Amino acid sequence: MAESPVALLVVLRFIHVLAAALWVGGGIVVLAARAAPNLTPLAGLSSAVLGRTVGRLVGTGFAVFVVTGVLLTFNRLAEQTIDAAYVAVLVSKTLLALAMFRLAVPGRRPAEPRAAISDRRPWWQSRTALIVGLGLAIYLLSLILNEMAELSFRSVG
Ligand code: HEM
Repeated sequence: MAESPVALLVVLRFIHVLAAALWVGGGIVVLAARAAPNLTPLAGLSSAVLGRTVGRLVGTGFAVFVVTGVLLTFNRLAEQTIDAAYVAVLVSKTLLALAMFRLAVPGRRPAEPRAAISDRRPWWQSRTALIVGLGLAIYLLSLILNEMAELSFRSVG
């Protein structure tokens, strides 16, 4: 860590965590809109515009997470103190993230975004709820990873 360019790492972490906050926060906003009866927050938008926007957001989010996540992974794995347990949690996190992105790709949705919001199923049974749930689980695993790395540094120092 001491040899790593600290400013670059801070920028990488900032972008990664910002993307995580926007991803999970955005999902929660969509869920809240679904849960509110008779609320049509997207009424003025055409489904084509919505579909394109969601597609772009998912694509950008995926690219940002993968690029920054891979660089953060290289940085952590370069540490001598990182153990097999850390790697196991990181692999689990990455697999969950890939599953989440697969679910979020617009082409795999049963309906376009506006229909997803007015879907009759209860909000907790929706695809968005599953994506948000996975996002929260991934967020938690990330905090655990951070604690594991900190503990491993302390146990050596
Ligand atoms: C390909 C996907 C991803 C990879 C390879 C990846 C990898 C990583 C790595 C290596 C770290 C540093 C962990 C540490 O401190 O030891 C990290 C931090 C973090 N990741 Fe990811 N990540 C990915 C996707 C995501 C996603 C989808 C989310 C959220 C939904 C997320 C949320 C976070 C957060 C919040 C942190 C900061 C934890 C902290 O320092 O407090 N990551 N990620």
